[in-house]
Amino acid sequence: MPAQILDGAAMAEKIRQQIAQEVAQRLAEGKPAPGLATVLVGENPASQVYVKSKHKACQQVGIRSMGYELPATASQQEVMDLVKHLNDDPAVNGILVQLPLPSGLDEEKVLGAISIEKDVDGFHPINIGRLAQKGREPLFVPCTPAGCMVLIESVLPDLNGANAVVLGRSNIVGMPVALLLVRANATVTICHSRTRNLKEVCRSADVLVAAVGRAEMVRGDWVKPGAVVIDVGINRVEDATQPRGYRLVGDVAFDEVKEVAGWLTPVPGGVGPMTIAMLLQNTLRAARLSDV
Ligand code: GUN
Repeated sequence: MPAQILDGAAMAEKIRQQIAQEVAQRLAEGKPAPGLATVLVGENPASQVYVKSKHKACQQVGIRSMGYELPATASQQEVMDLVKHLNDDPAVNGILVQLPLPSGLDEEKVLGAISIEKDVDGFHPINIGRLAQKGREPLFVPCTPAGCMVLIESVLPDLNGANAVVLGRSNIVGMPVALLLVRANATVTICHSRTRNLKEVCRSADVLVAAVGRAEMVRGDWVKPGAVVIDVGINRVEDATQPRGYRLVGDVAFDEVKEVAGWLTPVPGGVGPMTIAMLLQNTLRAARLSDV
C-alpha cells in the first residue's frame, strides 16, 4: 500500500489559525502585537527567500515583524551591536538571525548574544544545552526540529522504544531533532558521512528523518515498510521543463519511497511550512513570557 502523505502545509495552516486567534485575543485585552525581528546579513538568495516567507507568515497571523539587513561586509561588532539593540527593544519579543552568516563572522558569539527570552530559534547555547540534558527545559526549541516532531507525533504519538534514524548532524536540524527524539524515548542513531552500512541502518528505522541536503539520496530500498519518513531537504535540481529552469526535491526519492513508507512528507509542503509555524508559535510564547 503506498504511503500516506503527511501534509505539513495543512497542519501548519491549522496552527497558524490558532496563533492568529490568540494574537487577536491578546490585542482585544490591550496587549501589544507580538514582535519578531529578523536579521539578515549578506545576500544569500535562499536566506532572502526564507526570511521573506517568515515575514509574510507573521503578517498573516497579526505578529509584527521587523526586518534588519546588514551587508556581507558587516563587522562582528556591527552584528553584535544590532543584536544588543534588539535585546533592549521592548517591542521585539523574538530575534531571528538567519543562518548561515557570511564567513568571517563568529556565529556562536552572535547566537550567544541573543537574550535567551528572545531566542525564538532556540540556538542560544543555553537553550541547546538544556535540550541536551535530562531534567532541563529549554525556553525555546529550534523550529525545524520542533516541526518534525509535530509531524511525527501526529501519526506516531508513542515513540517509546521506536528506532529513529537521523541522517545528518547539523546544528540547525540533525543534532537537535535527534535530541528531541531521545527526549521522546526513541532509540536514536545519527548517521553522517562516515557512517558504515548506511542503507542497512536506515532500513532499521521506524522513523527516518533525512536532513543531509543531498537530492533524492534516500532510495526506496533504504526504507523499512511502514516507516514514518520525514524529508527535511530542499534541493534545487536542473529541470529545463520548469519556467525557472529547476525544481525543488527533497533528500528522499519521493516516488520510490512512497511505495514503501507508511507515512511520508512531501517537498515542498511538508517540513517547510511547519518550520515557519513553529517560529510563529515560539514568537507568541516569547510575547507571553514578557507579559508582566
Ligand atoms: N537557516 C536554515 N534554517 C534556519 C532556521 O531555522 N533558523 C535560522 N535562523 N536560520 C536558518
